[in-house]
Amino acid sequence: MRKTLLVANWKMNGSLDLLSQMHEALLAKSYSGVGIAICPPFIFLPQTQNLFKDSQIAYGAQDVSDQDNGAYTGQISAKMLSQLACDYVIIGHSERRQYCGETDKIIAAKCQRALDAGLVPILCVGENATQKQNGETEAIVLSQVRSVVDSLTTEQLEKLVIAYEPIWAIGTGLAANPLDANKVHELIRKASLQTTRILYGGSANAENIREFLMQPNIDGALIGGAALKPEVFVQMINISEALCTKVY
Ligand code: PGA
Repeated sequence: MRKTLLVANWKMNGSLDLLSQMHEALLAKSYSGVGIAICPPFIFLPQTQNLFKDSQIAYGAQDVSDQDNGAYTGQISAKMLSQLACDYVIIGHSERRQYCGETDKIIAAKCQRALDAGLVPILCVGENATQKQNGETEAIVLSQVRSVVDSLTTEQLEKLVIAYEPIWAIGTGLAANPLDANKVHELIRKASLQTTRILYGGSANAENIREFLMQPNIDGALIGGAALKPEVFVQMINISEALCTKVY
């Protein structure tokens, strides 16, 4: 069974106030069929832990260092994240690949550090608009997936979550066609495991989440903008709860 997972990626947005509002909105109900995780900026993680530690809501970071410890000013290690009892860490988001020069090699090392510290990596992959136009989606996505998957043991791979995020769909309001996304997810599944949870990301919202989750290979979503509005995020969870877990 692959339990549906909805992950809020706040990016460099939000505040302690928003965290409290999200806490209030999420804890007003109980959820059983859907896994939920909040990934706020690092600085809010201690407060996230305080608020959510005894709840069903998981949480995590948006990045982690590829190094264990040492003279790496400004970086945060996987061990530090596990001290805050983080469950997840987003790794290789396209914004980090683009603005911070993260390569597949660095991303694979980050996944390894995360797994060693007991965190679940959410590996992000996806093609940009030009690559899509050139028909390179499959090759790009598979090479990004393989560069991590090939470096893991089967036991480690069982823990990995993958998010397919076409770059042209991120923050543009122009989500992928769910059928097209499902085809890419199917390829990713062939390159990973039957049990691997593969999330869709890129302008997912309350209007389109149902259609994405109805696809056989889409097991959840990585949500940016829509997850900054507690009422919209809760709405998306409610829709997902109604569809629930996939049995394969
Ligand atoms: P978006 O962002 O939902 O705002 O498009 C998704 C992401 O980048 O993870």
